[in-house]
Amino acid sequence: MQEYHEFLKKVLIPENTLAQRVAELGAEISNDYLDKNPLLICILRGGIIFLSDLIRHITVPLSVDFMAVSSYGVGKRASSGQVRITLDLKTSVRDRHVLLVEDIVDSGHTISEVLDFISTRHPKSLYVCTLLDKTERREVEVPIRYRGFTISNEFVFGYGLDIDEYYRNLSFIGVVDLEKFIPENDLNDF
Ligand code: IMP
Ligand code: MG
Repeated sequence: MQEYHEFLKKVLIPENTLAQRVAELGAEISNDYLDKNPLLICILRGGIIFLSDLIRHITVPLSVDFMAVSSYGVGKRASSGQVRITLDLKTSVRDRHVLLVEDIVDSGHTISEVLDFISTRHPKSLYVCTLLDKTERREVEVPIRYRGFTISNEFVFGYGLDIDEYYRNLSFIGVVDLEKFIPENDLNDF
């Protein structure tokens, strides 16, 4: 794999800005969910870093669970509009205050399908918290209650977000220069 410096167009959101905004969101959520014992559902895999930082800024009792969905084939950078649930929850959402934690809402297909799926299981409330919002690319309307940053239509990576399953471990959000990024063939998503 390439070293990220080779294709980093620019650092869009540095580590300290992320930390500050995540702390603000945590405080806001703590305030809104007093006495509600929320269940935070992280959508794997992109949401993991955001979730783990966010929950340490939430001061009310909470639980977490995970779901995985696939909407993009590896190597593709446009949503197919087709979403498949590849890992279901372990926790019952019935009568729980559910907060979905996502890395990024792009076309909106993924989150919209997940919202529909969870709604059928009768949560007491259901809201979305996304770190990034690419509003320009929206194809389906998505209600977002908590939003870290609105960003323009560029492909980003780091802080949980991948390019072909790599670079999630970087502590900042960067914009990729797709002309300099060399995709590896046969990276499998199994
Ligand atoms: P949507 O269904 O089009 O809203 O796509 C949402 C999913 O696409 C996110 O959960 C990400 O996994 C992925 N995605 C969308 N834009 C980006 C990006 O700029 N970088 C990395 N992943 C992205
Ligand atoms: Mg992804």
